[in-house]
Amino acid sequence: MSHVAASDSTLILSFPEPDVAVLTFDTPGKGANILSRSVLEELSAHLDELEGRESLAGLIIISGKADMFIAGADLREFAASLDISADQVADMCRFGQTLFSRLSSAPFVTIAAIDGICVGGGAELASWCDRRLMSDGTKAEFGFPEVQLGLFPGWGGTVRAPRIVGLGNAVEMITSGASIDARNAYAMGWTVGISPQERLLADAIALVRSEQATGDYQRDRQCWKQPVSISDTELGFLGATASAYIQSKTKGNYPAPLEALEVIMEGSLSTADEACQLEAEGMSKLFGSAVNASLLNVFFLTDHNKKDHGVDTEGIEPRPIKSVGVIGAGIMGAGIAAANLKRDLPVTLTDAAADVLAGGVRGILQEVAYNKQSGAADVDRAVRYAPLLNGTTSDRELAECDVIIEAVVENADVKRQLFARLEPLLGENQILASNTSTIPITELATGLQHPDRFCGIHFFNPVRRMKLVEVIRGEETSDATVSAAVAYAKSIGKSPIVVGDGPGFLVNRLLFPYLQESLELITAGAEIKAIERAAKRFGMPMGPIELYDMVGIDTALFAGRVMWEAFPDRIIASPILPALAKSGRLGQKNGKGFFSYENRKRRAQPDPDLNDFIQVYITGDKQFTNEEITSRLFLPMLLEATRVLESKLVRDVRDVDLGLIFGLGFPPFKGGLLFWADTLGADKILEMLKPLEEVGERFQPTELLLEMATSGRKFYDWSPG
Ligand code: NAI
Repeated sequence: MSHVAASDSTLILSFPEPDVAVLTFDTPGKGANILSRSVLEELSAHLDELEGRESLAGLIIISGKADMFIAGADLREFAASLDISADQVADMCRFGQTLFSRLSSAPFVTIAAIDGICVGGGAELASWCDRRLMSDGTKAEFGFPEVQLGLFPGWGGTVRAPRIVGLGNAVEMITSGASIDARNAYAMGWTVGISPQERLLADAIALVRSEQATGDYQRDRQCWKQPVSISDTELGFLGATASAYIQSKTKGNYPAPLEALEVIMEGSLSTADEACQLEAEGMSKLFGSAVNASLLNVFFLTDHNKKDHGVDTEGIEPRPIKSVGVIGAGIMGAGIAAANLKRDLPVTLTDAAADVLAGGVRGILQEVAYNKQSGAADVDRAVRYAPLLNGTTSDRELAECDVIIEAVVENADVKRQLFARLEPLLGENQILASNTSTIPITELATGLQHPDRFCGIHFFNPVRRMKLVEVIRGEETSDATVSAAVAYAKSIGKSPIVVGDGPGFLVNRLLFPYLQESLELITAGAEIKAIERAAKRFGMPMGPIELYDMVGIDTALFAGRVMWEAFPDRIIASPILPALAKSGRLGQKNGKGFFSYENRKRRAQPDPDLNDFIQVYITGDKQFTNEEITSRLFLPMLLEATRVLESKLVRDVRDVDLGLIFGLGFPPFKGGLLFWADTLGADKILEMLKPLEEVGERFQPTELLLEMATSGRKFYDWSPG
């Protein structure tokens, strides 16, 4: 076998047989293969050379990395060129299309031999090859995730995919951004087979031979240059249903899927060359847009989070967590237990109330047995997970777990009594943690013998859906405890951020000014309907009033009290919550809060009786515009975020934005709260605050905001220093 390669290059050319070339993608020093500009240039140079060779039968493109073919384009290059002109965007697409299309016109058969992840630009490169062959590796994944970044495939993916897998499949894959596995890829004809991992190259070579013998690839080359064959009726039906579905999902906030649909549909009626042109033009509308920039930011937030170990000290090896104790089988305790079981971590669960414990165990087993694909409980899943759950009333059994998380009522005395009882039973390698939503960790640690082994591990509701976990560092929490908690949260698929101590920590500290303002708006005369609408138009998954019901009016009241006692200058104790709680309106959990849930689907419905309770608290009759409500809701949240930075509660500005997106569902298309603020600019924010200053002290600009306006700095320039 001969090799032609420079030591710092990504592509290695070899010849396993004299007439079969193999290009192996293997970016030195990186876990993933990325299609940066320089890698594309390397590919181009290799194709120049290979096309000039005589009697080459085939080219196989393969990866040198385990479980990874190609992960896509270099997003850092994208982020650095967001302000390029529309023509330059189109040129960037044409460059990729022209380069990759050489794989479908070369004087030899081209085959992508794919083991592992093959997405984005990698899926496009493979789509331009004559044939694709996937391995049976468990990480095999093929997809076009570009819409998640506010884009669509721009190197010919929208052109090749419909021609290879059919229009319906291509529309679904490209507009949803979801990946599929090898079995599904085979079913839709994207891969010609599934090879055992160790035989992938040998099978690819055999494929070169068989394609040369039959000449089938030449026939497909001709066919895939033409428009897609589909009847007008089918085309019309597909366009209409896909468009309606996309609009219901994106609510007009994410333009890429609809643009992609248009480009795919139009491109399918054209030749491949014309379709490439349409794709490049369509891309110019999306690349560099505000939504694209915001979603790229979300990508970088997540990427940063994945790489963060939660502590700044080097060399700390996190202690492994192999078993979890959960105290309290209520909403949160049950959710936490289920999340652990689903990752095969054994859970010991307890509750002071025997009936709650029994109900909790039942609910957890129902949740873990649920099979998403069939939409029903699955006996195999129940059999697999049930032995991992131990519902018990024994402190001894609980005290055997590596980490013990309490999720009992939000009451400091109750929590402290519990810790005092448990701590003496624990060894020095175990961690005690609280899921408290608001009570400072240092306050809960008073009385503990080993406050260094105590921290907050704060999950969000509903646990199965919310990816965020706040790991809260009390004054005496050690680095070893923090790093173990962070690694543990990641091991169950969550995105942990480490935050400093204080009432409400990060997310609830930002949430409560927003929630409480919604009650102030009601008092001032705003209609609940209008408040909910403004929040949803901003992009929140639900309005603040419905969120109160979801959190639970009693829990919100406990937590709210902690917040308004801590920050009386800016969080107002509205009498509305205690009134609701007193009348037994506890929210979703008992069918009635601000809204009624006493319907078949348990969805929030207006409750005509609510007026009787809140009428006495409505003292104003102001007519609010949507914009006024939006400012009143979100500016207090933003001002609080600037105070969070001032007090260095977070280690990185990006943790604020990730926390709100993954913990509250803050709209990703806005890129995060502070990213959004940077898009507006400090001057604009001051202008928006001006008319609100008379509403109350809470709308006064903070020092940091004023400083940003004077210096022209951005929030994303902030560091704890
Ligand atoms: P919940 O009221 O649904 O459940 C609490 C459970 O703790 C009850 O089943 C109760 O019987 C049990 N319990 C009370 N004292 C106990 C003791 N000494 N020993 C054992 N069990 C005891 O409450 P939820 O909503 O699950 O909240 C639990 C904790 O999680 C609170 O600290 C809350 O602030 C926090 N949290 C709540 C969120 C929410 O949205 N509900 C979100 C994140 C955190």
